[in-house]
Amino acid sequence: MKGKSIAYCVDFFIKLPLIPFDINTKILSMPIAYLTRRERFSSAHRLFLSELSDDENYKLYGQCSHPNWHGHNYELFVTVKGDVDTKTGYVLNLKTLSAILKEKVISKLDHRNLNVDVDFLEGMVPTTENLAIAIWNCIENDISTIGAKLHCVKVQESENNFIEYRGD
Ligand code: NI
Repeated sequence: MKGKSIAYCVDFFIKLPLIPFDINTKILSMPIAYLTRRERFSSAHRLFLSELSDDENYKLYGQCSHPNWHGHNYELFVTVKGDVDTKTGYVLNLKTLSAILKEKVISKLDHRNLNVDVDFLEGMVPTTENLAIAIWNCIENDISTIGAKLHCVKVQESENNFIEYRGD
């Protein structure tokens, strides 16, 4: 019996250095989760470059270059990354995230013309790409302030087309 437990201890200590360090790290650190909030907004826009003719803009931007504007029903998905609090079980309070998105983004975009009404899109062609980048820049600091990290801004312009921006 004694011999058996010594053999077990020896075996255990021989194997210990082979165990990857992240086993200890995982025990000590909190699990990380990704939380996504969806918001919706409807906006008008026109995609065009002023130096191009209407025909050239149409070749470049298609229907979205129509001179008299048109609209999209957009969906915005904002994903944040953070520790899951051991007490609350939350990455963060969804109401807080939603309030930030409504104040900083949705209230400025919804039922607005993206070419002329939105301060944070000034000077940009309001493509879905530029929209996602601009939204990222609007909310990144606020997300940090509430203790999470912005991971992804996804803007869906139509059923088949969406853009993801991850800060790169
Ligand atoms: Ni369009």
